[in-house]
Amino acid sequence: MPDSPFTFVIPAPGAIPSRVDNHIQRRLSAMQGQFLDQVAYAKMLSESDRLIYEVYEIQRPQIEGELLMGISIVHPGKVGQEFYMTKGHFHTVLETSEVYYCLQGEGYMVMETPEGETSVESLAPGKVLYVPPRWAHRSVCSSRQQDLITFFIYPGNAGHDYGTIEQLGFRKLVIEGENGIEIIDNPRYQAR
Ligand code: 6PG
Ligand code: NI
Repeated sequence: MPDSPFTFVIPAPGAIPSRVDNHIQRRLSAMQGQFLDQVAYAKMLSESDRLIYEVYEIQRPQIEGELLMGISIVHPGKVGQEFYMTKGHFHTVLETSEVYYCLQGEGYMVMETPEGETSVESLAPGKVLYVPPRWAHRSVCSSRQQDLITFFIYPGNAGHDYGTIEQLGFRKLVIEGENGIEIIDNPRYQAR
């Protein structure tokens, strides 16, 4: 891993960086229990293990003082009424933040703290989102046609805690209801 300054390009359209150290592909099967409509989920999975989102990582040592970067691409689609989304996570080191810069598409960042504060911010090209320390975060693609593409940066020592979210889910969900896009309370949310 070079220790001298380096550059890479995020080309438009498509936004796949000119330097990729790791490419993650998350399929429907990786989202067990995450979507509200478990019947729709099971039916879709029985048809095909669709690709929900991808992450292109530019890696650095996972230590304090370093910054990790990458591109997150959430594809358009729905499971039941719920839009395609990332798994979502707290950072293992809770006191670490993150910056997202939206490059393409439409969507939301669903966020919450361990104490139960919630926030749902809309994402659109050119928008920068600051996720403060202690806030779990999940990207949601609410476009019918376009990928939601964001560039992200976060501390090298942050880590990922998926377990808490896998158990409890997020308190807020983004669905396509009768009146268009709706942000609703998660009926399955199990209070701590
Ligand atoms: C991170 C970032 C970001 C995130 C992707 C995929 O901490 O690494 O938040 O890169 O990992 O958007 O989302 P999931 O990690 O929740 O699958
Ligand atoms: Ni993160």
